[in-house]
Amino acid sequence: MGDTKIHIFDTTLRDGEQVPGCKLNHQQKIIVAKALEGLGVDVIEAGFPISSPGDFEAVELISKNIKHSTVCGLSRSVEKDIKTAAEALKYAARPRIHTGIGTSEMHIKYKFNSTQDKILERAVAAVKYAKSFVEDVEFYAEDAGRTDNVYLARVCEAVIAAGATVLNIPDTTGYCLPHEYGDKIAYLRDNVKGIEKAILSTHCHNDLGLATANSIAGIENGARQIECTINGIGERAGNTSLEEVAMIIQHRYAHMYTHNIVSCQLNSISQLVSESMSMPVQPNKAIVGENAFAHSSGIHQDGVIKNRENYEIIDPAEVGVDQSSIILTARSGRAALAYRAKEIGHNLSKDQLDIVYAQFIKVADQKKEVYDSDLKGILSQSFATAI
Ligand code: KIV
Ligand code: ZN
Repeated sequence: MGDTKIHIFDTTLRDGEQVPGCKLNHQQKIIVAKALEGLGVDVIEAGFPISSPGDFEAVELISKNIKHSTVCGLSRSVEKDIKTAAEALKYAARPRIHTGIGTSEMHIKYKFNSTQDKILERAVAAVKYAKSFVEDVEFYAEDAGRTDNVYLARVCEAVIAAGATVLNIPDTTGYCLPHEYGDKIAYLRDNVKGIEKAILSTHCHNDLGLATANSIAGIENGARQIECTINGIGERAGNTSLEEVAMIIQHRYAHMYTHNIVSCQLNSISQLVSESMSMPVQPNKAIVGENAFAHSSGIHQDGVIKNRENYEIIDPAEVGVDQSSIILTARSGRAALAYRAKEIGHNLSKDQLDIVYAQFIKVADQKKEVYDSDLKGILSQSFATAI
């Protein structure tokens, strides 16, 4: 892969866990955090310590259990939040405080009833205060997606001067189009004095289904960290999906970028998060959905059986899936039927296949999917008829 490292910041346990019904107990959080560390994520956002005593304890426990990834705690630009985050992170080998404030006109006016200058002062004070506890301080400009670029650049410049090591540019409402988000990152890269001292980070929400595209646009324009979650879970329509950006970088940007993700663990961690959060993964979800490597139409099945790459751009083994699956339905053809029959021990001649196919298509028309058990019945019935 290329030389430029893209840092993967996972927020499954913070932005992801905020989703109603996704709450995990401490034990589950530690299991997920360890799996994330094993997956190779650079940063684990473990929670929002001021939000509840339970979240504080979870961040503290994760800090004690994680040795290689940076452990990060969220805070608002409020002293009590920052101090609490620092306490929760006290045992972390690599602690990071993530602090910030809304910077869009909307947030300044309707959330804070404030002014741009006052918000800038609060941002700087928060970063300075966080810096008194830890070296690694990430600043988020909430609703940066709808923030005027000139003001956003002023804020970024000021927080870098105050010591911020990472600048998170969230598209909090999932509003931006990829070229707008990319241009925003490019604008900051080109106009913020001292930008070389900090890492620009993407944090994109999926309200218009553009979170992954926006994150990649951010990377193309100079961001070097992507904030994301397993299975793309998160507020409303979710966050950028970790498995998608990891595989996009691995497959389409390997000549430029590298990451630490051990991609063959993506499928198992997706299942772990889905099961522990009781949050099913949609079957057609890219990379980790049940159908991501399943083929059901005759034309595709014939192509995949001849050469997997006719219809697959990723080898399923790369993401920890055993093999592509050929699903038998009424849309399947003879090639798929012969393939599946062979898998259960019947190598059919051309004449036998014609006979079995005639039976198969009758059954398939009655059922959504023909399973091995159905196929065994079809085979014995066909041979009995043929004899
Ligand atoms: O979406 C967002 O703006 C956030 C910040 C709190 C980082 O999650
Ligand atoms: Zn978010």
